[in-house]
Amino acid sequence: MKPTTFLVLYSLDYMSQTIADQLFDRREKVVSNGVGTFIRTTAKSAENSTITNYDGKSYIDFAGGIGVVNAGHCPPPVVEAIKAQAEKLIHSCFHISAYEGYLELCEKLVALFPHGKETKAMLTNTGAEAVENAIKIARQATKRQAILCYTDSFHGRSMMAMTLTSKIDYKKNCGPFAPEVYRLPYPNFYRNGKALVEDEYADLELDRLYTSARNLVDPTNIAAVIIEVVQGEGGFNPVPKRYLDGLRTFCDENGIALIFDEVQSGFCRTGKWAAYEHYDVIPDLSTWAKSMGSGMPIGAVIGKKEMMDAAEPGTIGGTYLGNPVCCAASLATIKYMEDIDLNAKANKVATIVHQRFTELQRKCPSIGHVRGLGAMQAIEFVYDKNPQMPDGETCSKLIAACLSRGLIILSAGTNKNIIRILSPLTISEETLSQGLDIIEEELLKITYEGSN
Ligand SMILES: Cc1ncc(COP(=O)(O)O)c(C=O)c1O
Repeated sequence: MKPTTFLVLYSLDYMSQTIADQLFDRREKVVSNGVGTFIRTTAKSAENSTITNYDGKSYIDFAGGIGVVNAGHCPPPVVEAIKAQAEKLIHSCFHISAYEGYLELCEKLVALFPHGKETKAMLTNTGAEAVENAIKIARQATKRQAILCYTDSFHGRSMMAMTLTSKIDYKKNCGPFAPEVYRLPYPNFYRNGKALVEDEYADLELDRLYTSARNLVDPTNIAAVIIEVVQGEGGFNPVPKRYLDGLRTFCDENGIALIFDEVQSGFCRTGKWAAYEHYDVIPDLSTWAKSMGSGMPIGAVIGKKEMMDAAEPGTIGGTYLGNPVCCAASLATIKYMEDIDLNAKANKVATIVHQRFTELQRKCPSIGHVRGLGAMQAIEFVYDKNPQMPDGETCSKLIAACLSRGLIILSAGTNKNIIRILSPLTISEETLSQGLDIIEEELLKITYEGSN
């Protein structure tokens, strides 16, 4: 083939590609493979619960940027607040020149999430950073080193957060990991409860917790236990209430800080501001990010005053933490959530999704479990109705089939056999039903026609 002919063919082929394909070609050339592609879509613009790609195709968004847009894509008051703040002050560094937005946001957070008689906060850019800082604060407050965490947990990708994260896919060849981190099985009632009732199972797991004081790590050396009240990446597993009560008691008996990671479950996702509000248990420290800023990078550590103040000046913070534009976005997001009563909307989404999934379970034998807390709803696929036999194949087929129909859905779970719904909570009933129809139709095809 002459070089000129080759060039013509190549460019014709290039032109027949979609713009999205071209973007992925460019991505492959310059973006590290380590930045994984979970769903092969692109986003040029987005509004409420719809994403439009570079070829003008619209998608219903059931992934919400991985739980970041509880208040919808580009909520108008948030967009306005970002623009207005950017015209006044983009950055000064809070350590150098303090500004009102940081203070207002901390005031709002401690009012929304009281952790004791007096509560304090610090701001971060991301969830992982919130986790890193919560651990540093707990260590300084207790003068201890060890941290207890759980299987199937996800806490982020910085070194301590990655160490605390359970799934090996997220940490391949990244060691050595942070020392003094110990792990217990997460009390996953569906997977491990067998024929027990939930309280009996929780007692067994609490027994394991107390036994760990003799065979895993000395509790007088534990600074903190970190737990997701409902696991996010782990597959929307809510902790049994009796276990959380027992964990609180264990921490109190042993002077251990209890940290709740609310990065995915917070800000109305479960129909309350915090997932822990469904339980009568208050943490010593908690971590936040994702939907707190509608997509602007902002997170927080909130905690009991005496614990937060145990951190030595200079040990927590950073150049960008609590950036003025992100604070403005977060304040506007929270106000918008209050104004439109996003918790009520979440409860409505929860009821609709749970009902549809429960009906679907009757028709599809591969659905082993339908569960969740509030609008953190999930379906888990297993073989032979056996919780120990994850069916990741049906799950991945369903994601691909839904994508081709214009619906973005996300998997979860260490075995990628769980579909989790993280749609904006502002989604209209009509769009929500359209998305659920697509899931149902495609799953029935996969189940009964073996298609896709
Ligand atoms: C529970 C939980 N903690 C921490 C993180 C890490 O947050 P980020 O990706 O903002 O660092 C995540 C992210 O998915 C999460 O779900």
